[in-house]
Amino acid sequence: MPVKLVLGLQHGDEGKGRVVDDLVQNWADVVVRFQGGGNAGHTVYDKKGNKFVTHILPVGVLSREIINIVSRGCVVDIQEFCEEVTALNVKPGQNLSVSGFCPIIEPTHKIIDRLKYQKKLGTTAKGIGPAYSDFYARDSIMVKDVVDRPEESLIRIQSKFFDLQEKRAQDGESLEVLKPDFDLFNDWVSNYKEMTNILSLYKLNNENVLQEYYKKEYNILLEGAQGSGLNIFSDNYPDVTSSAPSVGGALNSTGLNHKQIDEVIGVIKSYKTKVGTGSFPSLIKDGQENILSKIGQEFGATTGRPRKCGWLDLDEIKLAIKANGVDHICVVKTDVLSHVPDPKYYVHGRTYCLHRIKEVKTSDTGFSELLSVIKNQTGVKKMSYTTGPKRGEIVWNV
Ligand code: IMP
Repeated sequence: MPVKLVLGLQHGDEGKGRVVDDLVQNWADVVVRFQGGGNAGHTVYDKKGNKFVTHILPVGVLSREIINIVSRGCVVDIQEFCEEVTALNVKPGQNLSVSGFCPIIEPTHKIIDRLKYQKKLGTTAKGIGPAYSDFYARDSIMVKDVVDRPEESLIRIQSKFFDLQEKRAQDGESLEVLKPDFDLFNDWVSNYKEMTNILSLYKLNNENVLQEYYKKEYNILLEGAQGSGLNIFSDNYPDVTSSAPSVGGALNSTGLNHKQIDEVIGVIKSYKTKVGTGSFPSLIKDGQENILSKIGQEFGATTGRPRKCGWLDLDEIKLAIKANGVDHICVVKTDVLSHVPDPKYYVHGRTYCLHRIKEVKTSDTGFSELLSVIKNQTGVKKMSYTTGPKRGEIVWNV
């Protein structure tokens, strides 16, 4: 079983990071981040059990013996990349590479995201959408460009920045309003040489390396970010992110083919959370949302924003399972649901009651009912679950 793919089947924040982390500890040789960028926040632990959050780096990065790859089409903020490798002490040439075909997130992308989309769509303002706009317009500056031709790339980056600022000035923005962005950009430019030098030390040398690892029967783990509900190819458009957290997205980015994926693991939280705009049919309004939010610490790992809480929405999960051929479901945070006196789930457009979960054990009436509902509704027989928030608190294949 050399390739497993972990996907979120809700609106992100399902707890994929800890599921990936468990597979890193017990199974994977290689971990690949294949879509999105610094909008994600995945939890990782070092050997001593200290907790960290990665944004663009794969979750295996703190396990030095694991090979980690950020594969093509992920959007990379080179400043945040440098900060993340420094914070996590990931040395060049050690266990991390970034595809040369990752578009970089330019300062201009972050400004456009902040001005145009942060309020409108509730984006993370990390520049993700505007960076992907340039990618599809075939106007991206990629990791390979800033590494191989840094001066020429900088001229393009500067020209896009000055064009935007000029347009903002023409639209009536005062110099006072524009100044902070000029200051940040000037700082960025003064660090550019150093950042590109650092990035060059991590650039992937062989874009076909995953097929080679596959041939060698390495265990390859593909780490999805966000979730199916945020897939740009979903009906939720435009309340989505700009990448495809899906099997399709993973194939495009990694160069593996669909026959090479042995197991698709869908991660679901026992309730649902969401940030940003868009409909939320299972939203809880009876006060129990506050319990889930507090006990589940439902605040964005990247932005710190509070997440809205709702009941497990099996309608959206069933769609995600069909679209991705999910083989295996991992249910997380059932311990959090146990704090709610009157738990429910949502399917066929309405809510249904569950027995209260007293213990996260298959012998518990409420808990076994929850697992049976998920199994019966989705038709996925292979299930796993977490029993608590700590590393190792996960039961595979029940
Ligand atoms: P963007 O990805 O920053 O462009 O934001 C687009 C939408 O995706 C917004 O609703 C964000 O809140 C949401 N989003 C992006 N990344 C995540 C994530 O990792 N977890 C949850 N929501 C996310």
